[in-house]
Amino acid sequence: MTKNVQPQHFKATVNNRMMANGHKPLAIWFTGLSGAGKSTIADALEQKLLSERIHTCILDGDNMRHGICSDLNFSDEDRKENIRRAGEIAKLFVDAGTVVITSFISPFKEDRAIAKQTIGPDNFLEVYVNTSLAICEERDPKGLYKKARVGEISDFTGISSPYEAPKKADIEIRTETESVNEAVDKIWKVIQPKIAL
Ligand code: ADX
Repeated sequence: MTKNVQPQHFKATVNNRMMANGHKPLAIWFTGLSGAGKSTIADALEQKLLSERIHTCILDGDNMRHGICSDLNFSDEDRKENIRRAGEIAKLFVDAGTVVITSFISPFKEDRAIAKQTIGPDNFLEVYVNTSLAICEERDPKGLYKKARVGEISDFTGISSPYEAPKKADIEIRTETESVNEAVDKIWKVIQPKIAL
């Protein structure tokens, strides 16, 4: 409810914060199936950014679902709310001058578009971690695909819940042919000029 609530304005601007940090902010939004490699690449990317003295933060689906989103499940509606919260939180980090990396399946095109608008299109980079369902299922690092196949988990992305792949992501990573290091290099080349002051 935003009735009787007005935005409060503070002296510091994003500009002030970026000058203090020595780089511009950005949201790097990973999307892809469970087990596609989003969190692995996000983790390696953050290591690279930290080595460049960039202020970072990772918002991860599995982790957020243990905390701020622990009231949510995997219905379309709950995923929508999950991604809405992720977008709002990512915006706060961008406002703080940080390079925020998000790692959510974020299966719905519309919800990703809303996150982009919330954060601001100029500060949003979509990275599609494109790993086929067959490979994700073969990897099955958490044993969840197996459970989904026998009906122990419902609404599982790729099996009993849809994944709407981006048609024109800013960056596409094919983990079947690109290594984690190659993926990080590819992303770094795109973001470096975007965050340089
Ligand atoms: S999203 O669809 O709302 O973006 P999110 O990225 O937060 O999903 O969480 C996905 C993670 O939750 C998966 O990597 C997996 O470990 C776990 N998970 C548990 N149940 C499901 C399910 N039904 N569908 C997809 N992922 C699930």
